[in-house]
Amino acid sequence: MADIRETVGQDADTILRIAADEPLFTEEESETVGELLTDYLELPDHNGYSFLTAVLKGQVVGFACYGPTPLTEGTFDLYWICVDREFGRRGIGRALMERVEREVRRLGGRMIVLDTSGRAAYEPTRAFYRSVGFTPTATVPDFYEIGDDLVIFSRRF
Ligand SMILES: CC(C)(COP(=O)(O)OP(=O)(O)OC[C@H]1O[C@@H](n2cnc3c(N)ncnc32)[C@H](O)[C@@H]1OP(=O)(O)O)[C@@H](O)C(=O)NCCC(=O)NCCS
Repeated sequence: MADIRETVGQDADTILRIAADEPLFTEEESETVGELLTDYLELPDHNGYSFLTAVLKGQVVGFACYGPTPLTEGTFDLYWICVDREFGRRGIGRALMERVEREVRRLGGRMIVLDTSGRAAYEPTRAFYRSVGFTPTATVPDFYEIGDDLVIFSRRF
């Protein structure tokens, strides 16, 4: 079973490698993970981003990034979640999500919202979100590009 802990600087290289190797993420998206990670590791207030690392037998195998949604009371965003493909489908994503939820509750949160794509390639991702208790709540057709909808999932506590 994976151990979930707060991300530390020495996890960064592997987190960036996992994001870069994930076929669903564009280069721009994996670069964004790097930018948020730098904010988290280097800024005193983390710019509102928190990272969690999943560790299996001493190896970094996944991460999640979340934070309070600006201008809301008790709503949090899940910005990223990713598990190394080699270690997929072993409950690591679920363990990360459970820990995110625990942290959000501890911080007084009442809801988590996340954005994802409506493309067919993201169906396994959407199945994962449904499986961990999220509900597809809104769709914005052609948001990312023509034929690529934004699907907003949410989970209230
Ligand atoms: C989505 C993701 C984080 C899931 O992580 P994971 O560790 O493989 O997921 P888990 O093993 O915890 O799966 C929990 C449940 O989600 C569902 N699920 C997970 N992957 C699935 C898939 N490929 N197809 C259908 N259902 C899936 C299942 O119900 C699963 O439970 P089960 O294995 O007992 O049937 C991982 O697949 C991933 O990193 N995907 C690419 C990146 C991505 O899309 N990130 C989100 C956008 S930011």
